[in-house]
Amino acid sequence: MERTLILFKPDAVQRRLCGRLLSRFEDKGLKLVGMKLMRISPELAAQHYEAHKERPFYKGLVEFMTSAPVVALVFEGSRAVSVARKMMGATFGFDAESGTIRGDFGISNQFNLIHGSDSAESAAREVDLFFKPEELQEYGVCDEAWLADE
Ligand code: RTP
Ligand code: MG
Repeated sequence: MERTLILFKPDAVQRRLCGRLLSRFEDKGLKLVGMKLMRISPELAAQHYEAHKERPFYKGLVEFMTSAPVVALVFEGSRAVSVARKMMGATFGFDAESGTIRGDFGISNQFNLIHGSDSAESAAREVDLFFKPEELQEYGVCDEAWLADE
């Protein structure tokens, strides 16, 4: 079973889209194991987006991500990382396919509503950055046997 870190970015919270975005993950059958509303510190944003440190958009990205609260979530499920990335769509809203979160809710490049880990290794690192072990729940759900067959 794989875990992935999802962030509903400041624009998703400001636009009151959190409930609708969460519903998509619940509908898909991913299990919610961690969730909190929080403000990302500049230090945490720097750690989270370390790979982009030298990119021209980095400063604006950190400013955006720290400008207002986000919702941080951890989902668990079979192939959770790639399943969540497909649900999010391409990075920029104007480019993302209809039917994806970014494709359905925006046309911006920076204000793209959601972050999702891009590999199992990134997911492990990012889940550790945003959550203490005791903030993650281990539990069974009654329809588990019907949702995944591997
Ligand atoms: P994310 O990390 O937020 O899930 O997004 P992603 O993998 O689809 O895209 P990534 O390449 O990791 O870029 C991180 C975030 O930086 C902003 N960005 N702006 N102006 C630009 O050219 C540009 N490129 C990237 C976006 O907010 C993107 O989500
Ligand atoms: Mg990324």
